[in-house]
Amino acid sequence: MKNMSPWWIRIPIIFFIIFGLMEYFIDSGEKPAFIEYPITQFFLLMVLLILIAIELILKSIENVMFQTLSSEGKERYLESKSKQLEWSWGKKMYQKLLGSKPIEAEGEIILDHNYDGIKELDNKLPPWWVYLFYATIIFGVIYLIRFEIYGDYDQDLEYELEVAEAQAQIEAYKKTAKDLVDVNTVALLTEASDISAGKSIFETNCVVCHMADGGGGIGPNLADEYWILGGGIKNVFNTISEGGRAGKGMVSWKQTLKPLEMAQVASYLLSFQGTTPANPKAAEGDLWVDENAPEEESAPNDATPDKETDSTSVVINE
Ligand code: HEC
Repeated sequence: MKNMSPWWIRIPIIFFIIFGLMEYFIDSGEKPAFIEYPITQFFLLMVLLILIAIELILKSIENVMFQTLSSEGKERYLESKSKQLEWSWGKKMYQKLLGSKPIEAEGEIILDHNYDGIKELDNKLPPWWVYLFYATIIFGVIYLIRFEIYGDYDQDLEYELEVAEAQAQIEAYKKTAKDLVDVNTVALLTEASDISAGKSIFETNCVVCHMADGGGGIGPNLADEYWILGGGIKNVFNTISEGGRAGKGMVSWKQTLKPLEMAQVASYLLSFQGTTPANPKAAEGDLWVDENAPEEESAPNDATPDKETDSTSVVINE
């Protein structure tokens, strides 16, 4: 086997090819496989060690074979070997991109001026720089056509798409991290599993004072629309978490219940709203009107129906 490249190129290239194949074939979701499955790190380490071992073995075989050669053979071998190592393609490419004249040829491009013995070479612009410059021109033209003429998409749209994507990610995250709720982020839970979890929490902890149907006993009625400490999921969550007014008997539950559990039981007890408990306690507190409730609920009440009857009665009176 002829080795055209030195080991310090061979090993990383093979290693990263295997690494790439591994990432391609192992389905690890969003995260790279070597993070998702730590065992693959071990695999990669083994691959690396094996690659190094192969190199070492090849080297020693080469060495042994070399010792068996006659001295003439050794010379020829070393000669061919040093040629291989030159890696002439890379060198040529480098020279070409740099575009500089070898020192021997500098005489051709020297300018006539002579400033106190300092002379100037009329070097060409280095090709790597020129190519880069052309590339920016091509990029610019494509950019102009795509975004200014055809108006593919603009920054506003890009921004909106990214925000929407981030929002979706937040939603997905919230689903996996329900336990992170606090009074600011809590939302009414509607999934049956959450409600039934809330029910069992309520039945273990709260029934003694609030009754199984929320009708109230030591604690106030939870089924009516009147709340001492404010209705709606946020206030209720806060009451459960921090407790009621001092000395009333409603303790703070945040030591006993996890945030998610408080959200579940709060969601459950809000489902009492609109039901009629067997033994309802008289309403206490104020009528709770949810400011965030959809408009339709308040609109018909305070405006249309009453005024319409008014106006008809006015008409009749006249
Ligand atoms: C020891 C009796 C007792 C227990 C147990 C109890 N509560 Fe209460 N609860 C009360 C009292 C008393 C109040 C009224 C507090 C006040 O007036 O400040 C109250 C108030 C509340 C309120 C606010 C009602 C309003 O009108 O603003 C909610 C919500 C509530 N409790 C939920 C719960 C939940 C959920 C549990 C179980 C995790 C629970 N309570 C357990 C006695 C209790």
